[in-house]
Amino acid sequence: MKKQILIALAFCCSISLCAQNNIQLFADKGKDIINRNIYGHFAEHLGHCIYGGFYVGENNQLIPNKDGVRLDVINALKKLKVPVLRWPGGCFADTYHWKDGIGPKDQRPSMLNVWWGNVKEDNSFGTNEFLNMCELLGAEPYLSGNVGSGTPQELSDWVKYTDHPNGSSPMTDLRQKNGRANPWHVKYWGIGNEAWGCGGNMQPEYYANVYRQYATFMTNGGGEKIFKIASGASDADYHWTEVLMRDIPHNMLDAVALHHYSVINWGKKGPATNFTEEDYFTTMQRALQMEELVEKHSAIMDKYDPKKKVALVVDEWGGWYDVEPGTNGAFLYQQNTMRDAMIAGTTLNIFNNHCDRVRMANLAQIINVLQAVILTHDEKMILTPTYHVMEMYNVHQDATMIPLSVSSNDYKMGKEKLKAISASASIDKNGLTHISLVNIDYSKPQKLTIDISGKKYSSVSGRILTSDKIQNYNSFEHPDNIKPAAFTGAMLQGNDLTLTIPPFSVVVLELK
Ligand code: AHR
Repeated sequence: MKKQILIALAFCCSISLCAQNNIQLFADKGKDIINRNIYGHFAEHLGHCIYGGFYVGENNQLIPNKDGVRLDVINALKKLKVPVLRWPGGCFADTYHWKDGIGPKDQRPSMLNVWWGNVKEDNSFGTNEFLNMCELLGAEPYLSGNVGSGTPQELSDWVKYTDHPNGSSPMTDLRQKNGRANPWHVKYWGIGNEAWGCGGNMQPEYYANVYRQYATFMTNGGGEKIFKIASGASDADYHWTEVLMRDIPHNMLDAVALHHYSVINWGKKGPATNFTEEDYFTTMQRALQMEELVEKHSAIMDKYDPKKKVALVVDEWGGWYDVEPGTNGAFLYQQNTMRDAMIAGTTLNIFNNHCDRVRMANLAQIINVLQAVILTHDEKMILTPTYHVMEMYNVHQDATMIPLSVSSNDYKMGKEKLKAISASASIDKNGLTHISLVNIDYSKPQKLTIDISGKKYSSVSGRILTSDKIQNYNSFEHPDNIKPAAFTGAMLQGNDLTLTIPPFSVVVLELK
């Protein structure tokens, strides 16, 4: 009889209804800080990211602005606590000559934006506008220098213009002449972008030498030491990382970048909203690949830098689909659904869990381009599901990461499978513990138990982002279709938590 009961139990637990997901949380074992810059963003002169997105011009009477920068957008981004903003590209950066974008606007030359639709770039939004906007936003600027078609002199001059003390060079005189007395003290500098592709089609051995040359002339202005980021690998190009770590002296290298997009197929990306479950599954396969990429690039970095002095900076990531019908193909404008919330939630969990090496990441791109957190249309503005995930997760910024182990049910598609549950956790400066959880399953709710050791808790509260269809999104007509709600479904008994996460949902719990 006993044997029969055991067999029945084993059978029951093997079917999905009885299956259990479990997380072990080691609350007293945290040592690494989740650098707030993991929650960084990226703004390129591409489509309507800058023009129409951030900047509508000083003379705009319709849209409230400060020096031409939209205040609705700034206020929304302040709630995200944007820590760092990368600019002006992307591919655009290696065609950009910063001196064209300073001084009186009517005297600034125009250029063609050759990467993004051959549209006219009138340079009305340049260095002063960007750096002043970062001050308004409370975000650190991250400038991407032109290596592909620029010179070491040009980049060295940019550093002087932004960072060096008054009266120390013709560049600082120029800054003063343009109405800015004190340096902005830009800390983060990218030396080229995608040097293996649009940034010059270089080989890693060649780029490593070019990097050394450019970095030599990027001198500190007396403020905080500047942080130099090498143009990194695409996806699984591990050779690129190996060569940079081997050939660039580490006293001139603060970080190596990595770019990875969740794209189904570069030749056939599929629609942003009207996608199938198969499309969704493939997108999530690509997104979850980030874990393997981070681990393998980090392992190479560990070989050359076991003390983890050099950071891995994932300065472009996110979903990439076909543009919305009727929009300019070069403007990369796409809607943002619960699928994007799944990419954001799982990717940020990966970064949090690898915060010993990943110390900055920049979602591509902040407004109106690719996996944007904000979409604008003339005077209208909406927040996307990705925005809401980033807002819910900002509790992790600068908190101590709590190590955890996840045992998850599978989300299956034919013979392929993915882990349904993704998680990360941290303790903030006030002693609050936050656990962020994602169930990527397309149709099944997931029951989950969380066993916590090393800390006692007496209460739990939470928020959830969910919807009844994964293809759902916020539109200009229905801007609040998807937004976070209170989550009261977590039960705390002793130090064990139990909850059920609906399909394709993100939950963030707070424990006291
Ligand atoms: O984010 C769009 C483009 O993707 C960037 O300009 C480039 O760096 C990458 O290939």
